[in-house]
Amino acid sequence: MIEPSSINEVLARADIVEIIGQAVRLKKRGSNYVANCPFHNEKTPSFSVSASKGLYKCFGCGRGGNVVSFVQEYEKLSFAESIHWLADFYKIEIEETERSPEQLQSVQTEESLRILNEDATKFFQETLLNSEEGQTIGLSYFKQRGIRTETIEHFRLGYDPEEGSSFFNAARTKGYQAEILIKSGLVKERDGRFLDNYRGRIIFPIQSNTGRVLGFGARILKSNDRAPKYINTPENELYVKSRVLYGLYQARQSIAKLDECLLVEGYLDVISLHQAGITNAVASSGTSLTEDQLRAIGHLTKNLTILYDADAAGIKAALRGMDMGLSQGFHVYLALLPGGEDPDSFVQKNGRSAFEEFIKTHKQDFIGFRLELGLKEVGNDPVKKAKLVNEIAESIAHINKAEDFTLRQHYTHQASVALAIDEAGMITLVNKYLQDQLEAKAKIRRSTTQEPESEPQNTENPATEQAKSPAATNDERQEWALLKVLIESGHLAYSETESVAALLHNRVDPALIKTALAREMFDLYFAEIGIAKADADPKRAQAFFIHHPNQDIRQKTASLLHSGQEVSANWKKMFGIGTMTEREEIDIRPESKLKAEMFGLAPTDSTVAYISETNSTLSYFEIKKLRNMQDLLREQLKQEADADRIGKLFSLYKQLKKEEQTILETSKTVIFKS
Ligand code: UTP
Ligand code: MN
Repeated sequence: MIEPSSINEVLARADIVEIIGQAVRLKKRGSNYVANCPFHNEKTPSFSVSASKGLYKCFGCGRGGNVVSFVQEYEKLSFAESIHWLADFYKIEIEETERSPEQLQSVQTEESLRILNEDATKFFQETLLNSEEGQTIGLSYFKQRGIRTETIEHFRLGYDPEEGSSFFNAARTKGYQAEILIKSGLVKERDGRFLDNYRGRIIFPIQSNTGRVLGFGARILKSNDRAPKYINTPENELYVKSRVLYGLYQARQSIAKLDECLLVEGYLDVISLHQAGITNAVASSGTSLTEDQLRAIGHLTKNLTILYDADAAGIKAALRGMDMGLSQGFHVYLALLPGGEDPDSFVQKNGRSAFEEFIKTHKQDFIGFRLELGLKEVGNDPVKKAKLVNEIAESIAHINKAEDFTLRQHYTHQASVALAIDEAGMITLVNKYLQDQLEAKAKIRRSTTQEPESEPQNTENPATEQAKSPAATNDERQEWALLKVLIESGHLAYSETESVAALLHNRVDPALIKTALAREMFDLYFAEIGIAKADADPKRAQAFFIHHPNQDIRQKTASLLHSGQEVSANWKKMFGIGTMTEREEIDIRPESKLKAEMFGLAPTDSTVAYISETNSTLSYFEIKKLRNMQDLLREQLKQEADADRIGKLFSLYKQLKKEEQTILETSKTVIFKS
């Protein structure tokens, strides 16, 4: 269990813009920041971060919350784990009860692996830098490869001694069980003995894009035909090869800033480039890029430059994989290094500026590259040429998003010129492949909608579905506006004796709140937070709703706190009551400050603003409800035959009208005339 004081310390320190800025490229817009949402695929930013409110919200997929919920969602961690993650980030010491070996076993495998990997990384680092064997064997190898100590520390590189079980013994002393050690790939069992899997190797920790160690690559030092050059962590709950990119943690800010990602093949390529100051490089670690890896890059940039050595066998396979990049809207470029060189050797030999110059002059866009490579092979063979034309057209057809239309056009033109064929013919061919893709997608969709659990009439007749879900009440806006005020300002003083929450408690009949979720939250507020004025913990209500176990409540809270007033502009026009979004424009005159002082309130503009908000929101709510009752009465009046009853209904109606009038007058008074 984490001590509450530690949680508070983390919450106080965590800067939402800094944390989310680690994950996506934030652009300042007004007082907020915007970005493409990291939780769903999009081209135009609908993800917004408010530094002052400490909240994020995606208007596309609806996800939202505070800095902790972001870490939870993005890192796929529990609340407690996210607090640990943030504490790590800010180097805050967390106070909690010590974990015993028994408890260690009971925490979920993934969390165990995470802790184990962190311990292992420290052990290997320590061994490399401070043990005699580490220095003479591991460290001298790194020095010989031109890797400096600060680079070793930056990438947390390490070494595991040759003696069979050094790490295993250290881990057992710490209380780790053999089972988890084997699962992690750090240890293996042979003839009833436990051996370090990476013994005698240098170690490259593979970090998540937020710095957690997910797994390792371990390189042999002497070449040996019987042992593989690298041993990598086996897939487990924590390490999913297709999702990780080596170096992304160290490269992410630079990728976003330069708006370009360099993709190389090996661990040492990444390390040497970073050491040379080229810090936007990542490695796919010997496989072609996966969709998940592309997506991780795509949050940061859409410009991808692939750096391979010219005789790399994998080039053609990698190229085929790049169609995926085109589908995701990437601009894919390629640069081939001179024969025999890889990025590591090239940059070590020639230095940063020569490297950058080489890339600049040799990088080609992906389609252009394929054209050139293909044309070399085709020669004068018409059959081969026809095949190439089709392959290129199919590739271009992967640029299939509506907004990438001009890019597709550009490549179609380029290809028809290079292949010396009629442009109209090329367009037709590309369109045919586009059509094929659409049909293939439709087929997948059809086959998934035929799954037995989905009810057929739902998709065939949307009207029935709508009829089934309870109709949204037309008072929703006023109701949610009320909740926004309650959660945001409930604890503040409305008058000398009364909090805003107390005022709303006295004035609002809960039965009038028709939206089920709003009613639930309204009741929850008074049950859990109460009506007392609270200076000690002003964000308590917000935190309560933001962390509520019910996901609907969490999301609604985030969107309420993040949004401006939800009352429509029509209402403002009809009644002339100022809305919250306009509070900055409301002229707060000296008299109103005086009045605030009379109430015993601090005479600042913001105190007056939240009181205006409370008043106007409450007025809107009451007017809306009064009008609904008036409508109801009018309906009844139409149908009523009994003269006596008509008289009663009518006087009730007049009374409601009068109440409405009073509210209108006082709200204008409060906002504009005080
Ligand atoms: P390389 O053989 O190019 O290795 O493989 P490297 O990282 O450049 O290392 P040096 O420069 O020879 O010391 C490229 C990548 O392929 C993966 C590793 O991720 C490596 O970084 N690989 C290679 C393996 O996973 N296993 C292997 O046996 C070899
Ligand atoms: Mn290499």
